[in-house]
Amino acid sequence: MDATRIGAVEGLLTALVAEDDALVAARTATEVTTPGIEVSPTLGKLLHLLATVRGARRVLEFGTLAGYSTIWLARAVGPGGRVVSLELERRNAAVARRHLEAAGVSAWVDILCGPAASTSALLVERATEPFDLVLLDADKAPLPLYLDRAAALTRPGAVVVIDNVVRGGRIADDEAASDPDAAGARQALATLASDPRWDATALQTVGPKGWDGVAVAVRR
Ligand code: DHB
Ligand code: MG
Repeated sequence: MDATRIGAVEGLLTALVAEDDALVAARTATEVTTPGIEVSPTLGKLLHLLATVRGARRVLEFGTLAGYSTIWLARAVGPGGRVVSLELERRNAAVARRHLEAAGVSAWVDILCGPAASTSALLVERATEPFDLVLLDADKAPLPLYLDRAAALTRPGAVVVIDNVVRGGRIADDEAASDPDAAGARQALATLASDPRWDATALQTVGPKGWDGVAVAVRR
């Protein structure tokens, strides 16, 4: 595919997405451990729209990075809602807190720092009030575990979005088992397909960051 035309089309699509300075700052932050892997503007807006149509009050996010998707989700739930975002790296959490402050949403966002396997287990142990929407966008190998946590932390009707489920097509390779990230994404899709708790679809995407995909599931 033609990268120049893909970039030009992305430019046209991004015209649908109004970003203010706080969103641009979060999306282009360079001080995080892995700059440039936040969701695209069009996916950020889709998350905002999904949370809005669901009437979400409580959102759980795996993977904060610089807070870009966090701001989209926090603006969807509004000051009467709550976003809990799980982030491994203290440095990223500090950067994200600054962006959330600038975006005017920090009063209703909590960032829990540490491995998401641990912080999400803590939420389950504490019998935290269920979430209406969950975004899985942290590390990919543990996606099956994170999906299980998402099931434990939601009720029927909740929406779960999983980013990066196609990974340049690597999930379809026979050697997916040797790529732990592709294997995690593939196993999560298999669970969505077979586990009666989920009703799901997934879309392949192409953009400036290449060929990938996003899964959207509803908790049954
Ligand atoms: C990776 C993670 C992401 O969340 C993303 O959007 C792209 C790539 C990664 O870990 O490779
Ligand atoms: Mg991602």
